Amino acid sequence: MINKDTILLIGASGQIGTDLTMSLRTIYGASHVVASDIKSASTEVMESGPFEQLDIMDPVRLNEIVLKYKVTQVYLLAALLSATAEKNIELGWALNMRSLSHVLDLARHGKVKKVYWPSSIAVFGPTTPSVNTPQHTVMDPNTVYGISKQAGERWCEYYHQKFGVDVRSIRYPGLISWKAKPGGGTTDYAVHIFHEALKYGRYESFLSETTSLPMMYMPDAIRATLELMEAPADSIKIRSSYNVAGTSFNPAEIAAVVKQYIPHFEITYKTDERQAIAKSWPQSINDSLAREHWNWKHEYDLGNMAEDMMLNLKKKYK
Ligand code: NAD
Ligand code: SER
Repeated sequence: MINKDTILLIGASGQIGTDLTMSLRTIYGASHVVASDIKSASTEVMESGPFEQLDIMDPVRLNEIVLKYKVTQVYLLAALLSATAEKNIELGWALNMRSLSHVLDLARHGKVKKVYWPSSIAVFGPTTPSVNTPQHTVMDPNTVYGISKQAGERWCEYYHQKFGVDVRSIRYPGLISWKAKPGGGTTDYAVHIFHEALKYGRYESFLSETTSLPMMYMPDAIRATLELMEAPADSIKIRSSYNVAGTSFNPAEIAAVVKQYIPHFEITYKTDERQAIAKSWPQSINDSLAREHWNWKHEYDLGNMAEDMMLNLKKKYK
């Protein structure tokens, strides 16, 4: 168990925070990992270690919590995701930008040593090469969420170059997990499909059957995050955000795998506004620099991800 640091997670009640809090508590010890969110978290998170209610738009309260626990690292997960931010442009922009500047300023003034902030495949846009999308390429996001992530990446690099802030970031693909439901993104269908298949034997997809997107199973995303944060500072050569890849598939392909577990499962398609967002994003990601710089390697593809999702969700719904 590593006990040298105390970590504050902001947005710990969400899809990633629910899993990441527990992994960090295993590594650093429960009392060294403070979960926080504007709303309460899962029972597991609430009962396994400290929790503080925090609206990240309030820098005074943020500062109080950092002082109270002598926080040394911040993982900033609070954000509005792609579909939700399109419905509330002002809040999406304000929350996604202001939360980051509050945390980067803490680090700039020496109050914390290290910051983790996730970016997204949403930084890419309609004229980005969509297959095997490189680390450095055209970035013309056309969603509030993507614009905020691209601006956030620029701010991370700026704070690192100008002020020496040790900020690290990953452009997560769509994340699939069973503990917490996703919080309003375009890739959420790939989680909903498992729940609906088990509950009703059918699912209506809001993306068309051939819309491929980069995806990753949560255990890979958590491991990538922890490996990036533990890597020596001089191996982190990209301070905007790293491409990382897991697997890529479309709704028809995941439906075929779900059918192997639930033979009567049926999928239908009725696209909505999320289809246009998905079409503006890459289909697959080139993550060779993450592999080269900090030895990133994914473990889950569509087959073993679906097997694990089914195993855990069947227990949950029993
Ligand atoms: P989520 O929507 O599930 O969770 C976000 C959490 O932030 C929620 O618990 C919410 O209550 C909290 N929050 C909202 N406003 C807040 C505020 N003012 N103060 C404090 N907390 C507040 O999101 P997630 O999927 O866990 O994503 C976490 C981060 O990872 C985000 O930055 C997101 O953009 C990024 N990301 C996620 C995915 C994915 O597929 N889940 C993919 C790429 C990037
Ligand atoms: N999964 C996220 C979303 O769809 C991508 O960052 O919004």
